[in-house]
Amino acid sequence: MKAFAAALAVCTLSFAAVVVLAQSPNSEKPPTAPAPKYDPAIYAELQKAPEKARNRANPLQNDPEAVAAGGILFEQHCAECHGDAARGGKKAPSLRAVEVQDAAPGAIFWILTNGVVRKGMPVWSKLPEPQRWQLVRYIKSLSGPAPAGESPVPKP
Ligand code: HEC
Repeated sequence: MKAFAAALAVCTLSFAAVVVLAQSPNSEKPPTAPAPKYDPAIYAELQKAPEKARNRANPLQNDPEAVAAGGILFEQHCAECHGDAARGGKKAPSLRAVEVQDAAPGAIFWILTNGVVRKGMPVWSKLPEPQRWQLVRYIKSLSGPAPAGESPVPKP
């Protein structure tokens, strides 16, 4: 009877081990290719900007103050969703993604003006146009080193 109890115990334990192993996430997902944090389709909105909007040049393209001013606006209005320095947050994706960084300034301006309301990106048409263009300069500055004499992030 003792032997039977021991065998039963071993059986129960190994059964438990199989159940635990089967439930461990590692056995389901391959270790490569971690799921992307955000669906790449998020950035598809940028592609929808009409050509006329996309081709608009940033009137502040050569304004040396624009990046820093945009950074301050970003902290005030955008960081709560897009995270500090646009690295991505709980509510909204990173704006350092190549889809955003490669987008035309006019397309980003168009997004700010129209929002993606059904997906939680607010309309920013209440910000005056120059402020929206400053934000575009700031976002664009995140992909590479800022031109000499400009700070990509506002100094505290
Ligand atoms: C309430 C949260 C929230 C705030 C505040 C917010 N955003 Fe967004 N934003 C989102 C979400 C959510 C998306 C993703 C929308 C989608 O799925 O297309 C997004 C997307 C974007 C995109 C990418 C466009 C695309 O293709 O979706 C840009 C650029 C952007 N936001 C800029 C800004 C800027 C600049 C500000 C500040 C003026 C800002 N956002 C403030 C939530 C927010």
